Amino acid sequence: MQQSNPPNDAEQSSRNNLEALRRQYEAFPYPPADTSPNSLETGSPSHILEIDHFIYGGRRDWTQPFRALIAGGGTGNAAIMLARQLRDIGCPAEIVYVDLSDTSRAITEDRAKTHNLSNIRFHTKSLLDLSVAEFGVFDYVDCCGVLHHLHSPADGLRTLAKLVAANGGLGLMFYGEYGRSGVYDVQNIMRRIAPDDDQTIQLPLLKTLLSNLPPSNRLVRNAAVDHTPEQHDAELVDKFLHPQDRAYTVPGLASLCEQAGLRILTFAPTGRYDPATYVQDDGLRRRCARMTNVERAALAELIAGNIGRHVFYATTQSNAVDCVAGLDGPDAANATPVLKHGQGAALAVKFRPDSVFKGQFDDFTAFAEPPALAADIMRRIDNETCLEDIYFEIAMENPGLDWANFLNQFKQLYTALHGLLNGMFLRFPP
Ligand SMILES: C[S@@+](CC[C@H](N)C(=O)[O-])C[C@H]1O[C@@H](n2cnc3c(N)ncnc32)[C@H](O)[C@@H]1O
Repeated sequence: MQQSNPPNDAEQSSRNNLEALRRQYEAFPYPPADTSPNSLETGSPSHILEIDHFIYGGRRDWTQPFRALIAGGGTGNAAIMLARQLRDIGCPAEIVYVDLSDTSRAITEDRAKTHNLSNIRFHTKSLLDLSVAEFGVFDYVDCCGVLHHLHSPADGLRTLAKLVAANGGLGLMFYGEYGRSGVYDVQNIMRRIAPDDDQTIQLPLLKTLLSNLPPSNRLVRNAAVDHTPEQHDAELVDKFLHPQDRAYTVPGLASLCEQAGLRILTFAPTGRYDPATYVQDDGLRRRCARMTNVERAALAELIAGNIGRHVFYATTQSNAVDCVAGLDGPDAANATPVLKHGQGAALAVKFRPDSVFKGQFDDFTAFAEPPALAADIMRRIDNETCLEDIYFEIAMENPGLDWANFLNQFKQLYTALHGLLNGMFLRFPP
């Protein structure tokens, strides 16, 4: 009979970590947000328009089969959103949902039944145990708010990287270091006050602590993090009583990805990671313009100081394609602007001559001036008409409007609706 070796220290720590995670998410499935049958989150990452825009250059042919892995799917927001979107466009898709927690899986399965979804396969399993031999490769992997809870996030990301097709990508969320100021102080206090108690006993103590924190406390000073004891228990446990979490800076994430054989494509919303959103001075902006995307994002997070969750898209290092859709190529005229919610006509109706666009980044509000043609352009965004056709229509009413002027004005609108609001994306003919 073959005898297995006893686990070494790292293996034992990893097993203990997984068991602690499983226990927490059995007792406090996450997120606690509305999981009622008809609820449908349309968040980020993993919205189909984002996947297309940020990984496939806005050119994916959705009549072709698509396989997605939702690793650590929790109560199902991403799985349900993506499964519905893929079904609604008639894409022959398969979504594989994996989570350690049976309770979270059961909630997600219920939601899938309510939405009549038959394109999700469910597994109670650790993502660390997934292999290409068993599951094949995926066009897309979602892993949102999971890896930073593992004993070794690097091992987790390496495992996922192996499961991504060479031209595919990942949508990831990791905690951000600067925006979580004060969170770790409270975790630390709780570990000292109630080191050996389980989370159900720690919870009332935590609520008392939160109600008694002085204004000078770093968590209380951090307006980007809700520290009220009234929030949902699962939210409080996840934030303040977690047995394992760590937060990352942009350069930290870039090196984690590099070690896993991945490269970061973009952070989202893109405007939150652009120094130009915060710094109006032309001289400073010119210096930032010379940097790589990741360098600019690293600078933006230092300037902003309040990013507590990093949502970003990545691809394999072997994928040489410039994956992110944009307006600087020769085919900008073929781009079709597509809105996440509704149609442009509804936006145009609400638009006033003195309107400005506002992006709410936690406790910071970013503003963008609309171009003169904002309402004329928005009115014509029906998610099907390309920029060239929009231009021709507007030019009929504005003789003398040349393409370059129109494109500049559209780019200004795009900075607001895409960059600040993460609500507009581009589609090109496949
Ligand atoms: C903070 S929740 C995030 C849920 C979901 N991704 C979301 O953003 O809505 C973390 C989830 O990851 C799961 N999880 C943690 N470690 C895991 C692992 N090694 N394998 C699979 N699931 C894991 C937990 O059970 C929990 O449901």
